[in-house]
Amino acid sequence: MEFKLKEGLLIGTATAATQIEGGDENNNWARFAAQGKVDDGTTPVRADDHYRRWKEDIDLMAEMGLQIYRFGVEWSRIEPSRNNFSQEALSHYRTEIEYMVSKGIKPMLTLHHFTNPLWFEDMGGWTQDEAVDIFLNFCNQVLDSMGDLVEDYITINEPNIYSTNSLFYGIWPPEKKSIAALAKSYTNMTRAHIAAYKLIHEKRLSMGKKRDETRVSFANHLRIFEPKNKGNLWHRFSAWLSEYLFQTAITHSMMTGQSRLPVLSLKGVEPGRYYDFIGINYYSRSTCSGIGDGVREGCDKNDLDWEIYHEGLIRLCQKLSATYGEEYPIFITENGTCDNSDSFRPRFIYDQLKLISETENRIQRYYHWSFTDNFEWREGEAARFGIVHVDYETQKRTVKESGKLITAIIRNQGVTKADYAKFVENSHYHK
Ligand code: BGC
Repeated sequence: MEFKLKEGLLIGTATAATQIEGGDENNNWARFAAQGKVDDGTTPVRADDHYRRWKEDIDLMAEMGLQIYRFGVEWSRIEPSRNNFSQEALSHYRTEIEYMVSKGIKPMLTLHHFTNPLWFEDMGGWTQDEAVDIFLNFCNQVLDSMGDLVEDYITINEPNIYSTNSLFYGIWPPEKKSIAALAKSYTNMTRAHIAAYKLIHEKRLSMGKKRDETRVSFANHLRIFEPKNKGNLWHRFSAWLSEYLFQTAITHSMMTGQSRLPVLSLKGVEPGRYYDFIGINYYSRSTCSGIGDGVREGCDKNDLDWEIYHEGLIRLCQKLSATYGEEYPIFITENGTCDNSDSFRPRFIYDQLKLISETENRIQRYYHWSFTDNFEWREGEAARFGIVHVDYETQKRTVKESGKLITAIIRNQGVTKADYAKFVENSHYHK
């Protein structure tokens, strides 16, 4: 064996509704695409046509031996106009969940993953205070319709990426550049997460489920921030400040209900522990010489020029466990890489899982991002993250070598010498 998989680690993939489903024009990203704002001119209205091909996709997932699956429901389909809920959409998702469960795949449901229904977006989206109640009303319907089938929940995906890209850098809809809007969005998302956390638990208890049969958290995008030059005071300060503004404050506020600026006052929220597991989406490290990103010179990079830095994930796990409790399991709710030709993804998966298996950490689940290639937001169809290739013209799915490697890892509970030679040996990163 090249390495033995960490005992009990469950492996699967993660997706988001808007990125794979296709067919829905009622959300802010479909409109953004229609305005010609996606770099390669594509639209999530096409994507992977998963809303119609869901059965084929779940069958493939099962054939590949995947054990867990994190997926999202599309808010704009379920609530196409305010307070008007589509029974068709709700029962569609219920049927899909029943099917994955029947195939032995454990579902994790995401309630919000970057996209908003147009009516919600045009009322002010997450910057309006009413957002919390509106979102809760939607969660309520989802829980009533399929809550009995699902034990694991993500309330909100990456509040920091959503809020900074949409409202601070202005590169995602609604293209605002305002620190006040950013603070509002952080605050409302924190309130929404905490309220949804409570609601999900209450609902599931009322369905006769035991408290520990329900696990709720949020998918927190965490990065490593480091100064470009450790001897430079400004670089050091900017790394600290970027980390604080991007992740430290929002993480603390969402997990504990105690606000840290730029999250504004959470008056009325009881301090507590609003997570049953620590959910981490991990991709890369930022090398700072000013506020925001930067990439270290000479490092291994993916096809979007993000540094590949596997140790970062372990460092973050250790830090989060120390801060938020060793007793909480860690679920890697996303980890993956943009590799358009699947030339280094096998090595990426090998290196990351080997490190997870051979270091001290509380990781219990690994959701690789992503199952199929999909609509990668601003980059559109051009950036491929899947372990299954999608030909967008024909919608044909083809399992990549990285997908075959994951199947072999689950089957053998590690990487054998033969699989290393077959999948990893000739797979190399580029600079
Ligand atoms: C998001 C995904 C995205 C992935 C790769 C994460 O930030 O949750 O929606 O596709 O990263 O960029």
